Amino acid sequence: MTTDNFPVLVQKGHDARESGDLEGAADFFAEALALEPDDLSLRLFLADTLMALRNFPATIALLEKPAENHPMLVPLLAEALEAEGKHAQAASWLEHQLIRRPSGHLHHHLARIHTALGNIGDAREHYAQALFLTPYDAVLLFHAAAFHLTHGWLGPALDLAQRALRCANPPDGIHLLMGDIWTRMAEADKAMRHYQMHRTQCPQDGDIITLRIMALADSPNLSPDFVRGVFDQYADRFDADLVNKLQYHGPLVISQALAPFLVGCAPKSLAILDLGCGTGLSGEPFAPLAARMDGCDLSPKMLEKAEGRHIYTQLSTEDFIPAMRHGTWDLVLAVDAFVYVGALSDIFAVAAETLRPGGFLAATFEAGPDTGFIRKPCKRFGHAETYLRETALASGFDILVLETASSRMEKREPVSGFVMVCQKRL
Ligand SMILES: C[S@@+](CC[C@H](N)C(=O)[O-])C[C@H]1O[C@@H](n2cnc3c(N)ncnc32)[C@H](O)[C@@H]1O
Repeated sequence: MTTDNFPVLVQKGHDARESGDLEGAADFFAEALALEPDDLSLRLFLADTLMALRNFPATIALLEKPAENHPMLVPLLAEALEAEGKHAQAASWLEHQLIRRPSGHLHHHLARIHTALGNIGDAREHYAQALFLTPYDAVLLFHAAAFHLTHGWLGPALDLAQRALRCANPPDGIHLLMGDIWTRMAEADKAMRHYQMHRTQCPQDGDIITLRIMALADSPNLSPDFVRGVFDQYADRFDADLVNKLQYHGPLVISQALAPFLVGCAPKSLAILDLGCGTGLSGEPFAPLAARMDGCDLSPKMLEKAEGRHIYTQLSTEDFIPAMRHGTWDLVLAVDAFVYVGALSDIFAVAAETLRPGGFLAATFEAGPDTGFIRKPCKRFGHAETYLRETALASGFDILVLETASSRMEKREPVSGFVMVCQKRL
């Protein structure tokens, strides 16, 4: 065979590829490459064909050595390494490449590899760099939005997805992603609109959408990411806004309701758990009575403020139920915290399990419908007095106090609600 055959072989390779004969195309390209080993375009055609055949080891063998001198081969080599599960090797090739030439595409690729490796900080950094270099790349915006959603950063996820949606050619799944983001942000109507748009665009996803819509309708509670996002953003202003503007006095309402039952209680004698302790306003009145007082809150930023009060023995970012299971309590407090939960039966049951006999559960609530509970337009839940009574009794509590009480103002009106003190049956 002579170099005369080269163009013919290459052409035959392309023809085979076009007709879907991948094996044939790979054979022709390989034969041609044996004649002209320095032809980089041909090497890439062959590598691309091998990738299409999912022959990743052959792709790696074909690209690894020449990639040292020819950066254009690196992205495909990294893809083949990734496909073989060699993520760290793929990342090292791309990082080496980035030193020579900053590129949004390479940062994007690295972000996805670091995500697969579980290096979330590095992935976030590479997404930020990629977005800086190529801010209008719809696929990048889409992947970055999905990444941020997965890790619970709902604000950035929404911003990125909305930017992807404004691009000339938004990726196919963008409405599904928007629906998922709004779902996690507890915006059921907006989520529904996007799910329906996705169903129109991609009718083949009808079943997926039906499941999403069913889950949306069933969801009794707010997502932890949503609550965390709201309070992380609010933490710096929380005390000033609530106390000064909204005349928040939930801690006073609870301490007054509990006072008759704590008469004679020795200082520093109680094991107390403050559920949804926020910045610690609710723990403050009880600190003198606490042998230990733990707090839990989904929002790390709120907990930073609580830490600064030096009244808590231990603080954790756990949800109510796992936090209760860490100890045996004399008093479990939930001040303006159960308003972020709809169904309370599991929480009351675990409170009853983890309180000492005779221990107290004390909580404030916002008022709801005549029975059960509802999610109000402000996203907090309102509970019916009957629901609170029935749930507490069914969980093994005696009800000592269940009275109307308002903990704060909204739109210059007191928010109607209840204060409840229950005692675990002896
Ligand atoms: C309105 S703040 C009240 C804070 C504090 N108890 C007070 O009275 O100042 C509600 C707090 O409950 C937290 N929270 C809501 N749902 C929660 C959950 N499921 N688990 C843990 N904390 C939660 C929020 O992050 C927020 O800091």
